[in-house]
Amino acid sequence: MNVCVVGTGYVGLVTGTCFAEFGNDVICVDVDKKKIDNLNKGILPIYEPGLDVMVARNVKEGRLTFTTDMKSAVQRSLVIFIAVGTPPKEDGSADLQYVEKVAKDIARYQNGFKVVVNKSTVPVGAGQWIKEVIKKNQPEPKHFAVVSNPEFLREGSAIEDFMRPDRVVIGSDSEEAIAIMQDLYSPLYLIETPFVITNLETAELIKYASNAFLATKISFINEIANLCELVGADVHHVAKGMGLDNRIGRKFLHPGPGFGGSCFPKDTRALEKVAEKHGYELKIVKATIEVNEQQRRRMVEKIVKALENPKDKVVGLLGLSFKPNTNDIRESPAISIAKDLMARGAKIRAYDPAAMEEAKHELGEENITYCQDAYDAAKGSDILVLAVEWNQFRSLDMDRIKSVMKQPIMADLKNVYDRSKMEAKGFTYVAVGR
Ligand code: UDX
Ligand code: UDX
Repeated sequence: MNVCVVGTGYVGLVTGTCFAEFGNDVICVDVDKKKIDNLNKGILPIYEPGLDVMVARNVKEGRLTFTTDMKSAVQRSLVIFIAVGTPPKEDGSADLQYVEKVAKDIARYQNGFKVVVNKSTVPVGAGQWIKEVIKKNQPEPKHFAVVSNPEFLREGSAIEDFMRPDRVVIGSDSEEAIAIMQDLYSPLYLIETPFVITNLETAELIKYASNAFLATKISFINEIANLCELVGADVHHVAKGMGLDNRIGRKFLHPGPGFGGSCFPKDTRALEKVAEKHGYELKIVKATIEVNEQQRRRMVEKIVKALENPKDKVVGLLGLSFKPNTNDIRESPAISIAKDLMARGAKIRAYDPAAMEEAKHELGEENITYCQDAYDAAKGSDILVLAVEWNQFRSLDMDRIKSVMKQPIMADLKNVYDRSKMEAKGFTYVAVGR
């Protein structure tokens, strides 16, 4: 099948590459010429395990190409995915200007029946709106259908999530389009992936409701962690004890500095807005957002308390990305904690295995040193803060760490280490909820 994917960000690039891997002929389009030039040279704009090899293979075998030419891409494709950004506006609602631009382009260049699939996270009702935009901008009426096919890719395991999803959601009021989508996803039928076939609005809401629910699980366990600290309980055992109940499930009950990334913070706010627009207040989603913001502040308070006065103190910071295995720093708790500490006069020594360049853009170079590795970050520091649970931070040589620090204090915001072992080594150990 001829497929076009507009937007070669995380979502678009993974989607396009995986559909090529299924044997389709895929063309990826982006307005960013540099990005496309780089992709044509084999340079990827993102860090995603396994993606580079898969891109290279499919390019070599002629199933995957990159272009800035929207017209030819639209004209040669039956299915067109929209995967451009939908950044939050100041009030938290999703900014649809890029989606609108793509829809207009599709209308302008359309040369036959097209299935227009929205993969970007858009407010409920956007599918119908895309339909209107295309209709309004067609030079002459042409047959097309709009589909909502939300993505559930986690950065760091996006390929696995695409190839072995828990479910595929397809929403449309066109049976023809649904049949084409099922055909496109047919390799997943072989592994018995459940499909949810529904209307546009329902598919759109499934995405938001899923992300908001997962975010709620995280805020919930973070609040329980805070309570654990007050009553002397261990949040990990609480989470385990809860999670073994199949109705609750074990996943997304890891406490820490709160959720970040390009999806949860944005999607919870956008869902709140969607409800508000329809005159309904989503109280639980609101609380999830508030608890998440409070959690970051609590982490800073923990660090400040351990340091007494953060002014001119040196903070070794392990991890800058919003979670392990990615160079993405969007809404990263680590970045926000670093900013807060710097504002209070602390000096940061930071290290991240993948997100150093990205962090430099965000945090600048003043009052912060970008280090070679974890030991370098610990050098001369008054406290070592573990903010992201990268694998390489899980078994650090703590004697060596201690020997290079000014004083042995560790704030383990991801509860990677064992309190009794850390204390036996002479560390003052601060954790979350235990
Ligand atoms: C994005 C959205 O943020 C998310 O809401 C949605 O679920 C999927 O798409 P992501 O792929 O991570 O997620 O976005 P981003 O990395 O910003 O990539 C978007 C790409 O679209 C960029 O490469 C950008 O250059 C491109 N783009 C944007 C276009 O090609 N055309 C446009 O008009 C605007
Ligand atoms: C998420 C969703 O999982 C995916 O389905 C969706 O389509 C896109 O958004 P992603 O943002 O890549 O994926 O990361 P995810 O692994 O879900 O983690 C999000 C944030 O929650 C991270 O900051 C992570 O550290 C945090 N988190 C996750 C916790 O704090 N505790 C947990 O138990 C799980």
